[in-house]
Amino acid sequence: MTEPLVLGIETSCDETGVGIVRGHTLLADAVASSVEEHARFGGVVPEVASRAHLEAMVPTIERACKDAGIKLKDVDAIAVTAGPGLVGALLVGVAAAKSLAYALDKPIYGVNHLASHVAVDTLEHGPLPEPAIAMLVSGGHSSILHVPDLAKEVISLGATMDDAAGEAFDKVARVLGLAFPGGPEIDRIAKSGNPTVIDFPRGLTSKADIEKHEFDFSFSGIKTAVARFVESENKKGNQINIADVAASFQEAVTDVLSAKAIAACKKQGVEYLILGGGVAANSRLRYLVETRAEKAGVKVRIPRPGLCTDNGAMVAALGSIMVSSGVLPSPMQFGADSSMPINLIHY
Ligand code: KG4
Ligand code: ZN
Repeated sequence: MTEPLVLGIETSCDETGVGIVRGHTLLADAVASSVEEHARFGGVVPEVASRAHLEAMVPTIERACKDAGIKLKDVDAIAVTAGPGLVGALLVGVAAAKSLAYALDKPIYGVNHLASHVAVDTLEHGPLPEPAIAMLVSGGHSSILHVPDLAKEVISLGATMDDAAGEAFDKVARVLGLAFPGGPEIDRIAKSGNPTVIDFPRGLTSKADIEKHEFDFSFSGIKTAVARFVESENKKGNQINIADVAASFQEAVTDVLSAKAIAACKKQGVEYLILGGGVAANSRLRYLVETRAEKAGVKVRIPRPGLCTDNGAMVAALGSIMVSSGVLPSPMQFGADSSMPINLIHY
């Protein structure tokens, strides 16, 4: 087969994404986001997200086909996020993908959202170097993965024990009175702050913690520490320098993330590190990972920020890898799996 033409659908959270790729070439990346509808609640409201996916699905598919200059009947396969994510939101994408596959008589791949975050890098930097270590940091996940073969084998080395990194950014932003989603706001405001003013806790980095949780994360402690700091300064009547708090918080989180990702590469003897997920768009994380990796002799690949956040192209990219690797399609009866395990790359 020549390079496969794959349409990917992503609806695990608040982005309705439809992407079209040919091999590793990105042809279309149409995304409709319901983020503004959730902003006043300070977090994604599942029912609102599901309804928005329903309304956006058909127009987004049409836009993607138009952008790619293809007709639906031309695609070789359909890929869709089967999990993990919000179950009602996932269901909309899975139902849409199955309808397309059935009507067009095309193979379907129900794939893992986290593996898709790794696959998307191929659209910018070409075939994946394997084995690789991947660190995925988003609003729903913070994981370090060992990836011997993205189509067939992904091993979890560690994950967050409580909040995801992006969730911590969003919650801290709320405490500081910044808009939702908080990650980009903190990134922006931290640029004018001093990251050394407040020494916020770096979770699971003590010697004892490293022994048990070498590649795990914990971000709920720092979230509470920021809230306590703000509360106590308010009580004392002190003016809070939001930029300093944002910079100090961001420094603590990105310090831990970058250190653990590089440590995983060293321990596994793996030369390549791939970053993905919304928090991989963070400028300080990108800088710290790149400088520390260079010192450690690790090569880093980070997709451009627009591909780090949720989109359909990442799902199409993983579908394309599956087709090219000769992986069998999913049986039609697979469902939406809100807690799909990371070692299950597809159904
Ligand atoms: O991957 P994503 O779009 O959706 C999930 O799968 O969760 O990630 C969204 C998360 C949000 O928590 C958002 O605040 C965070 O990524 N984020 C950032 C930045 N851009 C997005 N966090 C830190 N710095 C950023 N520049
Ligand atoms: Zn994601």
